[in-house]
Amino acid sequence: MLGTDAVPILSRQFEIIAPPEEQFDITDLDTVMTTICKGKFDIVLHMAALTDLDWCEDNPDRARLVNTEGTKNIALACAKAGCRMAYISTSGIFSGRMGRPYTEEDNPKPANVYGMSKHEAEIVIQESIQEENWLILRVGWLYGGGKKDKKFVGKMFQLMMTTSKVMAVADIWGSPNYSVDIGYLLENMFLHKIHGLFHIANTGEPASRYDMALAIRDSAQLPVEIEAVPSSRFPTRAFRPPMEAIKSVRLINTMQYTMRNWRDALDEYIKRLAKINAAD
Ligand SMILES: NC(=O)c1ccc[n+]([C@@H]2O[C@H](COP(=O)([O-])OP(=O)(O)OC[C@H]3O[C@@H](n4cnc5c(N)ncnc54)[C@H](OP(=O)(O)O)[C@@H]3O)[C@@H](O)[C@H]2O)c1
Repeated sequence: MLGTDAVPILSRQFEIIAPPEEQFDITDLDTVMTTICKGKFDIVLHMAALTDLDWCEDNPDRARLVNTEGTKNIALACAKAGCRMAYISTSGIFSGRMGRPYTEEDNPKPANVYGMSKHEAEIVIQESIQEENWLILRVGWLYGGGKKDKKFVGKMFQLMMTTSKVMAVADIWGSPNYSVDIGYLLENMFLHKIHGLFHIANTGEPASRYDMALAIRDSAQLPVEIEAVPSSRFPTRAFRPPMEAIKSVRLINTMQYTMRNWRDALDEYIKRLAKINAAD
C-alpha cells in the first residue's frame, strides 16, 4: 500500500530499484547482502512487513522472522555497504493506555506480536547502523494505494457505495495517515539527509474508525447511516491499543515541517477513489 503511493513520488528525484518479493525475500540474508552490497545505493527504504495484526498473533515465529530478522538482514547489509537506511515503523509499538498522543519521548511498550516484532526491528537498526545513517519513521493508521486498497478506508468506501447502513468502531483512536503525504515527506527527508527517529502523522485530533467513516461519507457525499459501535462488537485475536495516536514533535522542531490535517488528506483520497470507481 505505502509502496504503491510513495515510489512514484520518490521517482521524481531518485532513480529507484524496487524488486518484487519473488526476487528479494528479506528473510534471505544472502540475497539481501548481495543485492544491497552490489547495488551501490545511496538509500535503502525498507517498507516490507507482515502487516496483518491477527495473522501475526497466530504466527509469531513467522512475524518475527519477517518483521524483525528481515529488518536485521537489511540493516546488516546497509552497515556493510555503508549506505543509509530508512525504516517504516508503527504507532502500534505503544501500549495505547496513556490516554494522549505519544511523542518520540515516550517509551514503547508493545501489546501484541506485530508491535513487538516492529519494535525489536527498530532496536536492531539502531544497534547495527551508524547514527547518521538511519531514519526511522513511526507512522500512524496508513491508508492509500488506490486500486490496490484492501484496508479500512478502501473497504469502507466500497461498502458505502453498496449499502445504506454501516457500523464503525468508536472506542479506539489513532492518527490517520495518507501514504501520499508520507511519500512527499520521505522525498524531503532524503534530499536533506535527515536521520533519527520521527513520529509521522497527519495533524488534527485523534480519530476513531467511526470518525473516519463519517469523514469518508461526507467526502463521498453518500446517503449512508453510520452506527458507532464498541470494539467488543468485533473481537480480534490481536489486542488493539485503545489510543495509539501519535504526535510529530521532532518533525516540527527539527524540520519546521507540518503535515496537513487528516480530514483534508482523507478528503483528497476519497475523491481519488471515487474517480477510480467512476472510471472502472
Ligand atoms: N498499514 C498500516 O496501517 C501501517 C501502519 C503503520 C506502519 N505500517 C508499516 O508501513 C509499512 C508498509 O505498510 P503497508 O500497509 O503498505 O504494507 P502492505 O501493503 O502489507 O505491504 C507490505 C509489503 O511487504 C511485502 N513483504 C512481506 N513479506 C516479505 C518478505 N519476506 N520479503 C519481501 N517483501 C515482503 C508484501 O509482499 P506480499 O504482498 O507479496 O506479501 C507487501 O508487498 C510496513 O512496514 C508496515 O509495518 C503500516
